[in-house]
Amino acid sequence: MKRRPLLAGNWKMHTTVIEACHLAAEIGKCSTALDDRDVLLAPPFTVLSEVAHVLKDSKILIASQNVCWEEQGAFTGEISPTMVRSAGGTAAIIGHSERRQIFHEDNEMVNKRVHGALRFGLTPILCIGETLEEREGGGTLKVLEEQVRGGLAGVSSDGMAKTVVAYEPVWAIGTGKTATKEQAQEVHAFVRKLLAEMYEKDIADSVRILYGGSVNVNNVDELMAQADIDGALVGGAALNAESFCRIINFT
Ligand code: 13P
Repeated sequence: MKRRPLLAGNWKMHTTVIEACHLAAEIGKCSTALDDRDVLLAPPFTVLSEVAHVLKDSKILIASQNVCWEEQGAFTGEISPTMVRSAGGTAAIIGHSERRQIFHEDNEMVNKRVHGALRFGLTPILCIGETLEEREGGGTLKVLEEQVRGGLAGVSSDGMAKTVVAYEPVWAIGTGKTATKEQAQEVHAFVRKLLAEMYEKDIADSVRILYGGSVNVNNVDELMAQADIDGALVGGAALNAESFCRIINFT
């Protein structure tokens, strides 16, 4: 099954308005000839509409870095799916390990966010990943299974077909310590097999599973060459137009 690659940049809590517009414009310039892959940017909430505006004539997709399950209301500090859509977003990163670890979001909350995104027509990018402690204790696959089953509880086959999964081992994020291509492929194949148990096989075969964690210009090609790695979720290297352009132009 051939899956369309998805190269995503997560800007995390970086960029002022001016910096974001400049970076988006630079990335826009190097993505014009890419017809066989999707490119997505997840800027901070404050610049979603500016970035969408800068890239309005490009095919680059825009995502928020989180999303609430309600359309509006008393949820101070949250952003609703409708707000994301109105700012030009079509997707939302959900359950990023920084949300889980620093802001104590659990699988139940992540699951509510996934449902919220789907209900309002946003593509959920569900992040999963084990800590170093969990990996060293041999608990990697168990933790990932809990995150997949928990994050997707109650999600229909239709919903799953629209969802993207991102495997980001916590120990590889921002550390310069990438998972080896074998480690990443092992997990991706495991997740796909799990999805085939939970849904139909053709859905599991079509879902895109991204790898994230210290993806850079030197490792993107070998990661993308793995059978079950369908894209990358890039942090640090996505804040530099030159390196992100090289990444989205992986061969
Ligand atoms: P780095 O690429 O900086 O390791 O970050 C990965 C990440 O968390 C993307 O969501």
